Amino acid sequence: MKHTGFIFDLDGVVVDTAKYHYLAWKKLANQLGFEFTIDQNELFKGVSRKRCLEILLDIGGVIATQKQFDTWMIEKNEDYLRYIEAMDSSEILPDVPKVLNYLKSNKIPIALGSASKNARPILEKVNLLSYFDVIVDGNHVTKAKPNPEVFLMAAEQLGINPENCIVFEDAVAGIQAANAAKMISIGIGDAKILSEAKYNFLDFTHIELSFLETLIS
Ligand code: BG6
Ligand code: MG
Repeated sequence: MKHTGFIFDLDGVVVDTAKYHYLAWKKLANQLGFEFTIDQNELFKGVSRKRCLEILLDIGGVIATQKQFDTWMIEKNEDYLRYIEAMDSSEILPDVPKVLNYLKSNKIPIALGSASKNARPILEKVNLLSYFDVIVDGNHVTKAKPNPEVFLMAAEQLGINPENCIVFEDAVAGIQAANAAKMISIGIGDAKILSEAKYNFLDFTHIELSFLETLIS
């Protein structure tokens, strides 16, 4: 067996939190007097909170003072936290536990590599925290995806060479970050959008355990 490690993005890979991010950003947009659509929310996937607010204000043509910017970042996150407060394990995306259990039973190290500063509380809420040997999230990185920092940090903490790490990602920037880290990238979602990934699956229900076996043996 090779010395491999698996790195999971969180939002859109392990749980579908994009809908909660959307509701919180939409509330802020509406409060500022403009619309924010579900299609525009696509631009926010894998993108840091600060960058999301910059894009949102661009969409609305709003110029903010530093104080307003900071206040809106806090307000958005408080709304988001109210949504995730109610999360439980029913919100884990289909067949994620199948993959996590397979890796655990084969003693393969598992890391989280997420842009979110709320990653740990979300994993706690959905009861998956114990699966992860390493967590690298928005609180630890200085450079956002597509910079490979988050995944390289995860590999280092796992003690696995980047070339032997496999990354599950749902965002284009995340696939680019995994590729830049020289890791094996697996796109979860629309293969057309995630065409830079080495492998593509619509979701984890399409991933056979035999495929994982080929990656680790
Ligand atoms: C990413 C999401 O995982 O985390 C982005 O895809 C989000 O939409 C980013 O903006 C930061 O999340 P948080 O929880 O720190 O605001
Ligand atoms: Mg994601």
